[in-house]
Amino acid sequence: MLNPLIANVANAPAIVLAVIATLLVVLVSSLKGTGWEPATDISDEVLQRRAAAVPETEFPEPGNRSIGGGGGGGAIPAGGEGEEGELEDGEAGGSGPGDIPEDEVEYFEIEFVKQGETVELSNDEPILEQGEDEGWDLPYACRQGQCVSCAGRIADGPSEDFVEHDNQQMLEDAEIDDGYTLTCVAYPRDSFSIETGEAP
Ligand code: FES
Repeated sequence: MLNPLIANVANAPAIVLAVIATLLVVLVSSLKGTGWEPATDISDEVLQRRAAAVPETEFPEPGNRSIGGGGGGGAIPAGGEGEEGELEDGEAGGSGPGDIPEDEVEYFEIEFVKQGETVELSNDEPILEQGEDEGWDLPYACRQGQCVSCAGRIADGPSEDFVEHDNQQMLEDAEIDDGYTLTCVAYPRDSFSIETGEAP
């Protein structure tokens, strides 16, 4: 009987040949490539088709729909940029009567007749807030110029000669001419005397 070791030694050339053949196949296929070509990139085509399926709108499309570059995508540069610009302008400029740069804030002497005191109020906060800061329990409800709970009266003339209202929606012109003001949205623009808790 043939010793297994001898048998293995006898088979050694065959094994070596098999290994060499395998390496050759691997080498040749790696040089030639597998012949497989990636399919053409269809992502654009798919996205175009998807974009075409989205109905055209006048509105800027959200970012996830602009990817296809279809009708929706086109709407963004056209309308979107302008709107962004307007927003930035609005943010930078500010528009309310209280939006006053710190170095331009002015103070006026305001006499609160019923409280029996004269105090300095700044022009960048409503009368109501500054009166409350003095510790006075002044009347109010909405604090948005939409009721008359906080109304007061400036006896010296039309209230808008002395204050600037921020979007008050309740007082008629005649009432303003008569000195009435909504203190929650009224910013001092001059010195004056006011009676709080006086509604038209
Ligand atoms: S609290 Fe309502 S208008 Fe001032």
